[in-house]
Amino acid sequence: MTRILMVCLGNICRSPLAEGILKSKLDHAKFLVDSAGTASHHVGSSPDHRSVEIAKRNGLDITYQSGRVFVKEDFKTFDYIFVMDTSNYEDVLNLAETQKHRDKVSLILNKIFPDEDMSVPDPYHNSIDGFKQVYEMLEESCSVIAKELEKS
Ligand code: 4NP
Repeated sequence: MTRILMVCLGNICRSPLAEGILKSKLDHAKFLVDSAGTASHHVGSSPDHRSVEIAKRNGLDITYQSGRVFVKEDFKTFDYIFVMDTSNYEDVLNLAETQKHRDKVSLILNKIFPDEDMSVPDPYHNSIDGFKQVYEMLEESCSVIAKELEKS
């Protein structure tokens, strides 16, 4: 089983979408996809209603998800950790204790814009259009991730 974790700040907007999108592209018998946030404000919360709506428009149900915080143990559990922005990247790396764990972490948009270190914008204070843009970026990145994982 290969395990992939998607990480953002609140685990209610971006990473739940990334989890839902990647999960829909992979064989559930071989891959486990989860998500978490670096902050604890939304622990136990359902995904933001705008992420739920965008997911639904694209045939995905993410309502089963529940917010949780990223913990050190996740470095052991997961093989790949994709973060949404540079601030999440720093927060997650600050918890890493070994190079092996640091090597598991990467910015998700580097899958489509290699080495550019671009961030998926935080859509929380934006309109539904912001969520639509986030969905499109994540869809493209997750297509690349899924192809690479299925090959490996
Ligand atoms: P996310 O978005 O990190 O994509 O889940 C946010 C959700 C909540 C907050 C910030 C970003 N907040 O400040 O509560």
